[in-house]
Amino acid sequence: MKQERSAQDNRELERVRQLILEAKENAYRETDMEPEPELTHSVDWPVTCTVGPGLEGAIAAETKIGYVNGTKGSLIYRGYDIFDLCAQSSFEETSYLLLHGYLPNESELEKFTNVLRRKMFIPRTQRLLLSFPIEEMVPMSALRLGTNLMRQKQTFRDKDTLLEETKDSIASDEDSIAMETRPTGEKASVYEFIKHIYDRPETASPDLISSEEIESCYNLLGGVTSVAASIGRIRDGHLPLEPLPDLSLAGNYLYMLTGRRPTPLEERIMDISLILHADHGMNASTFAAMVVASTLSDIYFAVGSGIAALSGPLHGGANVQVVQMLEEIGDASSVSQWYSKATEEKRKVPGFGHRVYKAYDPRARILGPLAGMLAESNSSIQPMYETAKKLESEVVASLGASKKIFPNVDYYSGIVYKSMGIAEHLYTTIFAVSRVSGWCARVIEYLEHNRIFRPRAIYTGTLKEEYVPVDQRDTNG
Ligand SMILES: CC(C)(COP(=O)(O)OP(=O)(O)OC[C@H]1O[C@@H](n2cnc3c(N)ncnc32)[C@H](O)[C@@H]1OP(=O)(O)O)[C@@H](O)C(=O)NCCC(=O)NCCS
Repeated sequence: MKQERSAQDNRELERVRQLILEAKENAYRETDMEPEPELTHSVDWPVTCTVGPGLEGAIAAETKIGYVNGTKGSLIYRGYDIFDLCAQSSFEETSYLLLHGYLPNESELEKFTNVLRRKMFIPRTQRLLLSFPIEEMVPMSALRLGTNLMRQKQTFRDKDTLLEETKDSIASDEDSIAMETRPTGEKASVYEFIKHIYDRPETASPDLISSEEIESCYNLLGGVTSVAASIGRIRDGHLPLEPLPDLSLAGNYLYMLTGRRPTPLEERIMDISLILHADHGMNASTFAAMVVASTLSDIYFAVGSGIAALSGPLHGGANVQVVQMLEEIGDASSVSQWYSKATEEKRKVPGFGHRVYKAYDPRARILGPLAGMLAESNSSIQPMYETAKKLESEVVASLGASKKIFPNVDYYSGIVYKSMGIAEHLYTTIFAVSRVSGWCARVIEYLEHNRIFRPRAIYTGTLKEEYVPVDQRDTNG
């Protein structure tokens, strides 16, 4: 049942919007003088460019999906500024925009939202997850496992195993619950699941689910969200929950993770966090997903590769280091001493600097004030937020002008998640939930003019070694 919002809720949501619009104004004012974007026109292939190690600088594709202007500190999805999307859009609408190329009308958005909500209903995959030692697995590894389980059930390549979703509900066979879990018998757990509105619906209009690829993307968008939330619950010794029909994808993520209905403010801030992690140029995980898809493998494997790439500490995860650093500093009065020592030891401060942004990351401009707003009503988070603000001013004062070092997206996202009670080990899985929409959009776009990725390496080894049989090789190594 849809819950009514109170006047207080509405005031808080309006304040969120205002904070984002203020952040936009600051960004535009501060970067007004920076040059306009480059690399925004079609190229004639083959293209000439300077390439560094790790393909740095290489142009591998054209895209209409998203654009990062690092010197201006701007991020655009399909022509729309991230500030405008965060102030006015929802993760569902933004995902539609990324996948389909335009903002949906009211009825398209409603259908899409319903489809995603239904796609979040994955009792069989949750059931299968319970048979693995999820609590012993790294959450990103468990998330990747979840995409494989979903693939097994849903991919059209394995048609024999494709079942009508309404028949997928599982029985109350508590005997077969894996021993590793400690079922606590929550009311709406998948074991006692109450069927809400999830019959294969008329709402899934053929125009929305018109092809195998796009349906698989919807499966992944909804399914990965539920898998991510279930991982958190199973690790805490609880049973996975089914989604609630009146919550957004962000709200359901929080509900299915914590077992508590999020407040409208929490739901909205998680929604915004998902919007601003949804796409970010040809980063490593996006490229990994595209490389796998370019072999004409399938989207589940492609997304699984994105998750694998994102799991590395050089890509996802700096927000955990930020939270740990702020805990280490303790409180705002210790910042100066801590930072002097860090500078002396030439330590890089987590949450600052970015390979592409040489200006304030627009995502940090948005998350910063929202973290502050959440901290206002959470006394255990307030000192951490104040410490972060103080450290930001010190780092920017010493490195902003000279080295273009500013906070990046990870600086405040950890504080936001922590204030919602989310465990640190789950932070990167939230990033993945959101990035599924960018991975899928980019894969679909690339496949329209697919060419298998095949860069080259310079061979620097020897060329004419003589093969020596094993029994004649030097035994001294
Ligand atoms: C993200 C990152 C890898 C970008 O690296 P990069 O673009 O290659 O930048 P460089 O490492 O070449 O750094 C350029 C200069 O800024 C300094 N610098 C970069 N990030 C810094 C940080 N976080 N703290 C302090 N100094 C930093 C470097 O020491 C270097 O100084 P130098 O010219 O005197 O040697 C780097 O900023 C970093 O490690 N940040 C911390 C981790 C983090 O937050 N990662 C998440 C990114 S979303």
